[in-house]
Amino acid sequence: MTDSPLLKVNDLSKFYGTRHGCRNVAFELWPGEVLAIVGESGSGKTTLLNCLSTRLTPTTGSVEYQMRDGSFRDLYHMSEAERRFLMRTDWGFVHQNPADGLRMTVSAGANVGERLMAVGNRHYGNIRATATDWLTRVEIGVDRIDDQPRAFSGGMRQRLQIARNLVTGPRLVFMDEPTGGLDVSVQARLLDLVRGLVSDLGLSAIIVTHDLAVARLLSHRMLVMKDGHVIEQGLTDRVLDDPHEPYTQLLVSSILQV
Ligand SMILES: Nc1ncnc2c1ncn2[C@@H]1O[C@H](COP(=O)(O)OP(=O)(O)O)[C@@H](O)[C@H]1O
Ligand SMILES: [Mg+2]
Repeated sequence: MTDSPLLKVNDLSKFYGTRHGCRNVAFELWPGEVLAIVGESGSGKTTLLNCLSTRLTPTTGSVEYQMRDGSFRDLYHMSEAERRFLMRTDWGFVHQNPADGLRMTVSAGANVGERLMAVGNRHYGNIRATATDWLTRVEIGVDRIDDQPRAFSGGMRQRLQIARNLVTGPRLVFMDEPTGGLDVSVQARLLDLVRGLVSDLGLSAIIVTHDLAVARLLSHRMLVMKDGHVIEQGLTDRVLDDPHEPYTQLLVSSILQV
């Protein structure tokens, strides 16, 4: 970890009309850190993630991002072109539903290769070789490279979406309930894979989940949300083993009863 954060979030709020999605959120994310955002349905997790990744514009507050040259830029004072460039090069976004992050009617290889072309790779042989390598890394058989993701199982689609996001070597990956729609056994395998990749690549990640077991397995630190507010934050082990807030205690004890 370096001596300055990758992301500085200041007093971020998002209103939908008069209803708030998230409110007065502040935290820092450090290079190489995996942060989980947890809370029950409707607590504001997706709203916050979308504000951080510029998919939504917050009503107030700022998000400063450390560029590769070390300078900090406010994400909401960038041009649309600069933001799009960041999304293509520095960031990944893994959707809960793989169909939202993949092109379902082009081949698996092209889904991965397309991202490489978007950052300027032009050599077909190299693109194909890198795509093959990434399919292997996410445990998709090389014999499936020309198949379309609509022919894949949910778990395979999600692994393909992860390959498509990581192939360009992003610095920061956003994930919204990455194991959400999957069977329990498929979830476990995917979590193992994500954990290995994030640690091998030294990625920073922000992972939204309602599942505390996912937070426990993947994250270093976590934010607990309730009604749009972050009500508790800290190291994941501390929050789960010694929750300070009554609401967090309730969340933790209800998961233990499952
Ligand atoms: N597009 C929207 N328009 C109006 N209200 C919304 C919209 N999206 C989310 N909300 C509201 O914002 C709050 C937080 O929602 P969300 O961020 O989706 O929570 P979570 O991801 O934790 O389930 C909820 O009260 C939800 O109903
Ligand atoms: Mg959500």
